[in-house]
Amino acid sequence: MIVAIDGPAGVGKSTVAKLLASRLGFLYLDTGALYRSVGLAVLHHGIQPHDETAVGGLLPKLSLKIEVANHTVHVSLNGKDVTGELRTPAVSAAASIVSAIPEVRAWLLPIQRQIGQKGSVVAEGRDVGTKVFPAAPVKFFLEADPTVRADRRHRELVAAGHSRAIEQTSAELAGRDNRDRSRSAAPLVAADDAHHIDTSRLSAEEVVERMLAVVTAKL
Ligand code: DC
Repeated sequence: MIVAIDGPAGVGKSTVAKLLASRLGFLYLDTGALYRSVGLAVLHHGIQPHDETAVGGLLPKLSLKIEVANHTVHVSLNGKDVTGELRTPAVSAAASIVSAIPEVRAWLLPIQRQIGQKGSVVAEGRDVGTKVFPAAPVKFFLEADPTVRADRRHRELVAAGHSRAIEQTSAELAGRDNRDRSRSAAPLVAADDAHHIDTSRLSAEEVVERMLAVVTAKL
C-alpha cells in the first residue's frame, strides 16, 4: 500500500505524514530530504545550483541512503549522516533550484521507488502522486492559506535557531512555491485522483484522522 501526500511548503505535510505512517505502521518516505541532500552536496562543492551541467556532473559522484530509525529520517550522503544539515534556508533554496533540473529528478526517481518496494509506505513531496507513485491507491493534496504556511515555517525556523523576520520567511516561501509550481519538470500539481485537504484551520491530529478514514476504507 502506498499513500502519497503532496503539497507546497508549510502545509504540514511532514508532520502529518510521520504521524500517519506511525499510526498505520508504514514506512515514512520524505522525498524532500533527497532533493535537499542534492542541494547540500551542490553547496558543499561550491557549484551554482542553477548550473545544470555542473550539477549533472556531480550526480554520479553522490551516494545517497535514506533510513528511518526511531521515527526519524536519516539521510547519509557519501557515508556521512547529513540529516542535521538539511533544513537551513540556504539548503531549502538550493534544493528548490536543483529540483527543477530534469537530470536530478530522473536520478532520484529509482531511489524513491526502491523504498516503495520495501513495504507499505507513506510518501510525501511534490510529485509523489503524479510521478513517483502514480498508481498509489490513496493520494492526498494538502493546501493552506499562505499566511498560515509562512507562520508555520517561521516558527520551525525560529525553533531551530534561525532568528529572522517573518517577512523574509514569507518571501522565501513564495519564491520557492513559484519555482516548484512553474518548473517544466514535474511541477507541483495535484493528481486528478487526489483527496484535497485544506489544513489552515485543522490540527495535525485532525488531518491525520481524515486521512485514516480514507486509507482504512482502502485496506
Ligand atoms: O518538502 P521540502 O520542503 O523538504 O522539499 C524541498 C524542495 O525539494 C522543494 O522546494 C521542492 C523539492 N521537491 C521536489 O521537487 N519534489 C519532491 N517530491 C519533493 C521535494
